[in-house]
Amino acid sequence: MLVHLPIGGLILLAVMELLALFPRFKDAAQNRRVILAVVLAGSAGSVACGWLLAQSGGYEAQLLFWHRWTGIAFAAACVLVLWLARPGRLAAYRIALLMTLILLVVAGHFGSEITHGRDFLSRHAPASLRALLGQSAPPKAAAVPADFRKRQLYAEVIRPILQDRCTACHGPEKRKGDLNLDSLANAKKGGENGPSFVAGEADESQIIERILLPLDDDQHMPPDGKPQATAAETGLLRWWINLGAPEKGTVGDFKPDADVLRMLEGMSSGKGPDGQRSKKSKCVSVANRSGVR
Ligand code: HEC
Repeated sequence: MLVHLPIGGLILLAVMELLALFPRFKDAAQNRRVILAVVLAGSAGSVACGWLLAQSGGYEAQLLFWHRWTGIAFAAACVLVLWLARPGRLAAYRIALLMTLILLVVAGHFGSEITHGRDFLSRHAPASLRALLGQSAPPKAAAVPADFRKRQLYAEVIRPILQDRCTACHGPEKRKGDLNLDSLANAKKGGENGPSFVAGEADESQIIERILLPLDDDQHMPPDGKPQATAAETGLLRWWINLGAPEKGTVGDFKPDADVLRMLEGMSSGKGPDGQRSKKSKCVSVANRSGVR
């Protein structure tokens, strides 16, 4: 609701301003400052919520970057427009309003690409129109680089997640709760409380249950204050367990749906609160992550 309120409000205002150009409706936009105040409040709230949501990770870094900054620029532009909306400044006000409207479309478009996927506008368009837009390949293949599909699901996706988030405490050296998540065989064996996962039943699996517990719960994993698994990482772990926790096979072999591909994309895009998993900068990224949370 927050994010759509400024969109509706600003478009309504633009329509009223257009009407006000005709003598018959010259009073149509009399209450522009009221509408602008509501739009401004909505966009400030959206920026705050968006910023928090971005911390949860799992979003493609590049799209997130553009959405974040065009969104903030939009909120700033609303302040300017509100300030200009007074007698004597009508021309400047109208130009600023038009610019803000364009910014709104751009910021909104990045936002919807984040939530619905990059090609959401053309995904269901007829092939001829897609060709015109330069998107002749089938939508899913176009949306995701092929190399995700070639990766070994356990060895190159799942194990690195466990190593990043868990094996500092559940590895060959330290085995908290007598649990070693470093190899599949050991993970299967589990710890003091039995197997760490049930193949095919992610939601019955200890590792997923514990990750999903509230942060302040004693049983939550990784413990509060340690770098946390992102939404994308958790989603991939669940997907893998629900597939039966296979050790062999590429991502492509398991027919990932659009959600899974987006999680993979979010994980490997490199930058952003979510993607810092390069081995070299581990200390730095661990510090960053615990700073964020
Ligand atoms: C900072 C250290 C630390 C990290 C990192 C950590 N854990 Fe733990 N974990 C513990 C400790 C300590 C226990 C034992 C106390 C308990 O059962 O809560 C434990 C227990 C567990 C258990 C219960 C084992 C059993 O059979 O009793 C599971 C399952 C688990 N952790 C999963 C995970 C997963 C999955 C991750 C990574 C996403 C993770 N942990 C990361 C410290 C950690």
